[in-house]
Amino acid sequence: MASPAAGGVVIVGRKEMKLLEQSGSLKGSLSAEQQLSLISGCSNLAEAVEGAMHIQECVPESLELKKKVFAQLDRIVDDRVILSSSSSCLLPSWLFTGLAHVKQCVVAHPVNPPYYVPLVELVPHPETAPATMDRTYALMRRIGQSPVRLLKEMDGFVLNRLQYAIISEAWRLVEEGIVSTNDLDLVMSDGLGMRYAFIGPLETMHLNADGLVSYCDRYSDGIKRVLKTFGPVPEFSGATVEKVNQEMCMKVPDDPEHLAARRKWRDDCLKKLAKLKHQMQPQ
Ligand SMILES: NC(=O)c1ccc[n+]([C@@H]2O[C@H](COP(=O)([O-])OP(=O)(O)OC[C@H]3O[C@@H](n4cnc5c(N)ncnc54)[C@H](O)[C@@H]3O)[C@@H](O)[C@H]2O)c1
Repeated sequence: MASPAAGGVVIVGRKEMKLLEQSGSLKGSLSAEQQLSLISGCSNLAEAVEGAMHIQECVPESLELKKKVFAQLDRIVDDRVILSSSSSCLLPSWLFTGLAHVKQCVVAHPVNPPYYVPLVELVPHPETAPATMDRTYALMRRIGQSPVRLLKEMDGFVLNRLQYAIISEAWRLVEEGIVSTNDLDLVMSDGLGMRYAFIGPLETMHLNADGLVSYCDRYSDGIKRVLKTFGPVPEFSGATVEKVNQEMCMKVPDDPEHLAARRKWRDDCLKKLAKLKHQMQPQ
């Protein structure tokens, strides 16, 4: 990984770096040109990681491939460097068990696009040293990310467990004909998502009554009643896939050009939101 001062240099391209600089959104204390000059390539893993303080593995999401990469790294690294995986779904105990340097291993799961969405989930192996978590946390803070610590590993980590809970109920509501695909997404983008960009679900409870205890007193019976009506895990197949896909493609056709244009629009929105969030520091 490049030096922390480079701030995210490894996750955006040359053209984007220049645009970020022009718009005043570039992270780190160095210019785009200085950050770019810190990147170099080579075809030898030992040479690539020589002198590194933190190695962030980003190969495709294959357990076999990642285990191969970490086994190679395990043979060449010293006792200080952090071995960190970007894995979205693979548990640390699947990735790192048996490595000589397991105490230095951690999953640091970023969120796409990481330059604008700062969250990084830090997930320990049962044998990860507390110092590994502390150093990775400090590094992520220093490069402008927003790390959170899982105290122990859990399938789906936290972000995907929350995301899958939402996807699951969204799917059931559309499948049961309660709401259209478009309106379902609006409930999030023009409703819940507005506040979730600034406060989470637990603080929402606290603010939506006279504190959290008062919220539970007032609303827990209603929440439990509704939760009991949630259906089984959807299959995500068959007629509902066709229906959701058809409605979605009317808004964003699924050819590469339309998808790329919509992603660009999403990233532009996130860039502006990131700026706003930066201005709106917590009181
Ligand atoms: N894309 C996302 O939204 C996202 C978000 C969070 C975490 N992640 C995680 O990051 C990791 C990478 O995801 P991605 O979407 O960037 O994947 P990707 O397929 O876009 O990129 C993977 C990179 O690995 C390289 N690569 C492929 N095979 C390799 C090999 N055998 N050895 C070494 N390098 C190889 C590719 O050239 C490419 O640069 C995955 O573990 C994924 O779960 C991705």
